[in-house]
Amino acid sequence: MSTSTDPAASSQASQSGTSPTARPASGRAGGARTLAVTSGKGGVGKTFVTANLAAALAARGQKVLVLDADLGLANLDVVLNLHPKLTLHDVFTDKATLEQAILPAPGGFHVLLAGSGMVEYSRLTPEVRDRLLEIVETVRPRFDWILLDTGAGISDVVLFAVSLATQVLVVATPEPTSLTDAYATIKVLATQQGRREVGLVVNQASRVGEGKLICGQLQQVLQRFVGPQPGQTFRLDLMGEVKMDSVVRQAVLKRQLVLENFPGSDAAQCIKALANKLLEK
Ligand SMILES: Nc1ncnc2c1ncn2[C@@H]1O[C@H](COP(=O)(O)OP(=O)(O)OP(=O)(O)O)[C@@H](O)[C@H]1O
Ligand SMILES: [Mg+2]
Repeated sequence: MSTSTDPAASSQASQSGTSPTARPASGRAGGARTLAVTSGKGGVGKTFVTANLAAALAARGQKVLVLDADLGLANLDVVLNLHPKLTLHDVFTDKATLEQAILPAPGGFHVLLAGSGMVEYSRLTPEVRDRLLEIVETVRPRFDWILLDTGAGISDVVLFAVSLATQVLVVATPEPTSLTDAYATIKVLATQQGRREVGLVVNQASRVGEGKLICGQLQQVLQRFVGPQPGQTFRLDLMGEVKMDSVVRQAVLKRQLVLENFPGSDAAQCIKALANKLLEK
């Protein structure tokens, strides 16, 4: 089936065919706020942050959809212990409708899952691009938030997924390799997508205040090298600091949300604070 009959969606979709990384318009008034969670280095905690942030927003009465935009290497289903029969792949190939593929998840939000091990999604084809854009535009009016859990790095698939969102959170750990890759990602988002504001979540911090320190250092280098035009500024906003917390690993092993299983933990409190900050923005 076609996922959308909205002419605005199809015209944006066809425009997107010319530029894989250009930033689409931020969407209709009254629709969901779109937020991409991305990173330079892999394995830093994007899926953990996205899933638990979705639960925290849902607990605040928000209607939330998480889209597993890590096409090809998706694992949101694993973290949430879901066994989807239908995924984005089935929607892309017209084997299922969007309605069938949007599933309720533990934590009170909804998910649109992707398949794993699908090499066809390692490259950004015009079809995947158009379909993804169409899907986001179609579901936008039905939710308050659409969170996109993307892959790591600066491939065109990742950058396109990020371009679908108005707001971006870059997740980084304090390790030098993660910070170098976060810098590279943010630089690309600023130069290719024209972003002047990016949110930072420092995950697996070893002490309180580490996030602020790291954000300040990154901001300094970015301001110097990302090179906004004279008079323009680039703002890296520290949106969250999540400490290294053994409950995160325990929750992943149990395939459950930290927010539901360890609601009093440091990690859960940090994610709730992140949700509050986003709601205030
Ligand atoms: N705050 C934390 N404290 C302790 N461990 C953590 C924390 N955040 C993440 N982890 C560990 O890191 C692992 C990887 O997290 P996650 O899968 O969310 O990363 P990712 O960035 O989504 O990875 P990928 O790039 O492969 O998609 C988790 O399974 C967990 O064990
Ligand atoms: Mg992930």
